[in-house]
Amino acid sequence: MNIREKHRELFGAEPVAAVRAPGRVNLIGEHTDYNDGFVLPAALQFEVRMTASPRSDRQVRLYSITFQQSTTFSLDEIAPSVEASWSNYTRGVASILQKEGYPLSGMNAIIEGTVPIASGLSSSAALELASLLVYEGVGQFKIDPVSRALLAQRAEREFVGVQCGIMDQFISSLGRRDHALLIDTRSLKYEPAPLPTGGIAIVVANTNVKRGLVDSEYNTRRKECEEAVAALKEIYPAVKALRDVDKAMLEENKARLREVVYRRARHVITENDRTVQAVQTLKAGDMAQFGRLMNESHASLRDDYQVSCQELDILVELAQNVSGVYGSRMTGAGFGGCTVSLVGSNAVGAFQSAVAPRYREATGLETTISVCQASDGAGPLP
Ligand code: GLA
Repeated sequence: MNIREKHRELFGAEPVAAVRAPGRVNLIGEHTDYNDGFVLPAALQFEVRMTASPRSDRQVRLYSITFQQSTTFSLDEIAPSVEASWSNYTRGVASILQKEGYPLSGMNAIIEGTVPIASGLSSSAALELASLLVYEGVGQFKIDPVSRALLAQRAEREFVGVQCGIMDQFISSLGRRDHALLIDTRSLKYEPAPLPTGGIAIVVANTNVKRGLVDSEYNTRRKECEEAVAALKEIYPAVKALRDVDKAMLEENKARLREVVYRRARHVITENDRTVQAVQTLKAGDMAQFGRLMNESHASLRDDYQVSCQELDILVELAQNVSGVYGSRMTGAGFGGCTVSLVGSNAVGAFQSAVAPRYREATGLETTISVCQASDGAGPLP
């Protein structure tokens, strides 16, 4: 039964909104977005789907096919839910939209998804964007895609409490089929970068380690970056974010920073450089160089930014050792979740058969391997 049929069965009404919003993989540019830097994500074939039909009262009733659970809240008093924490993204989006004066109406809605949860592929951003689109559909108003991303980000920051950057919501909203997006997270200007269509596959491998520490460590990394900015600002008053600092400025002032803060800043600064370079190598079709940049990115995230974990390191190293693999790195916030690898199409089989059993041997865990298709951003369900 598809989601529209399920909607009719459960609510006895035809959905007026039926939407989809994708998860994402970030190719390079990790932990740069809250430093006003550059990122290069692509939207994935994994998506969250939602249907909704209006109600005559101010209640929002949600049913999650994934969790086989219902929850209801009133638009006049939106509080987070403990039992149905998956609904907090939809609640948060409603809360922000109302703060901004959008006219929300009560609705019955169904959610289903294929984005693996808590795996660093942005199932939350996908759910936020899908929620936004159904509120628009039921409330009969329209928001542009960049504003959608900003509102969804606010829901995550102000309602859910994760001080995330803009990358995940932006790519879920504005992704383009067969393209990655170079996003300047300061100006929000973006440029679609065509992904190679033949001969190369983007492979996502899930460590299947549920991300544990991620929220608190994430907020700590942000604070460390702010500490670096505050110290460097004393020397260079024009510095507003690590985006404005280059390697020479950092090295010259190393003694002013705590060692750990210096290393965090070094990651962000070198990662920004790598991301800008990566787009150029993508345009030039130099996949070998793109792969090297991915490998360097992983080392920097592991050693300087310290957001990797043993399972991610093992999975990355196994991938890097397969012949025909150009590069491999962790993707997303870290502490578990997924790796992304650039693989010659004829090496995908070798990747599967070499990496999966060795990962099992080393960790006792199974990896799930998927070949990515870069997809369009959030919109109506076909
Ligand atoms: C999470 C956040 C993003 C970004 C990444 C790390 O996915 O939501 O904004 O900071 O981590 O690159």
